[in-house]
Amino acid sequence: MNAQSPAPPAPAPSSNGKGAPVESDATEVMVNFQGVRKNFGALQVLKGVDLEVHSGQVVALIGRSGSGKSTALRCVNGLEKINAGKLTVCGYDLSKDNVDLRKLRHDVGIVFQSYNLFPHLTVEQNVTLAPRKVLGISTAEAKEIAADVLAQVGLSDKLDNYAEQLSGGQQQRVAIARSLAMRPKLMLFDEVTSALDPELTGEVLKTIERLAANGMTMMLVTHEMAFARSVANRVVFMHQGTVWESGPGEMLVNPQTPELQQFVGSGL
Ligand SMILES: Nc1ncnc2c1ncn2[C@@H]1O[C@H](COP(=O)(O)OP(=O)(O)OP(=O)(O)O)[C@@H](O)[C@H]1O
Ligand SMILES: [Mg+2]
Repeated sequence: MNAQSPAPPAPAPSSNGKGAPVESDATEVMVNFQGVRKNFGALQVLKGVDLEVHSGQVVALIGRSGSGKSTALRCVNGLEKINAGKLTVCGYDLSKDNVDLRKLRHDVGIVFQSYNLFPHLTVEQNVTLAPRKVLGISTAEAKEIAADVLAQVGLSDKLDNYAEQLSGGQQQRVAIARSLAMRPKLMLFDEVTSALDPELTGEVLKTIERLAANGMTMMLVTHEMAFARSVANRVVFMHQGTVWESGPGEMLVNPQTPELQQFVGSGL
């Protein structure tokens, strides 16, 4: 990480595409970063992040490797604890010590690049596991939920297949369904297509797009610029641990800062 860390530019006036909510909007603020700082030992990774996500919004985090995107996402579901500032998520104040992380994670689903399904369990068994074990839902009800969420990711026909029999893209969609089965209020996606071949990437992105269209609130880290532009209400460019530039997807065609210009120009 660069030790030299210039201040980010003054924030651009709040403008949103697609009628996305701004601060004055009446919709619920589901995620609110206020001056959030996070360090790993001497390494300062988040250096005062300010960011709001409203109910129903899709926010895409973009930026160079090491800019703090995954760390920001991991703070949202309590996988990392913030060091300073304030972070509220679905009504939980994550700056406090006494947060019930189990409850928080019922509300906040996260899907990573690696999907970590149980290969020798069927798709249905993979999806029903957490609702049964964590939420204590009956097997019959869990199966109903599984049928519903697998339909949402377009995999109703794979219910009885073993996870290891599926393609990478299908497995990633099962991982998304597994997360949806917990009925989260907010979904986090961290580069969920990075490990996939290009032809499998499309089907996963389409799944996420469908969730967005159905009103799911989500934050997603992605290197798919065209996708970020078309699906996100707001794109957030992170640079050196801060929100450097943010706005509607169109900001990617008209970047205001040299840093975003360079990032977009690099073809990432
Ligand atoms: N658990 C950890 N312990 C120590 N350093 C960490 C830890 N997690 C992340 N870092 C460091 O924090 C910085 C930001 O990492 P982060 O994973 O948030 O970046 P990123 O923007 O997601 O990058 P990428 O695009 O490569 O995924 C990096 O320098 C990374 O090495
Ligand atoms: Mg990352």
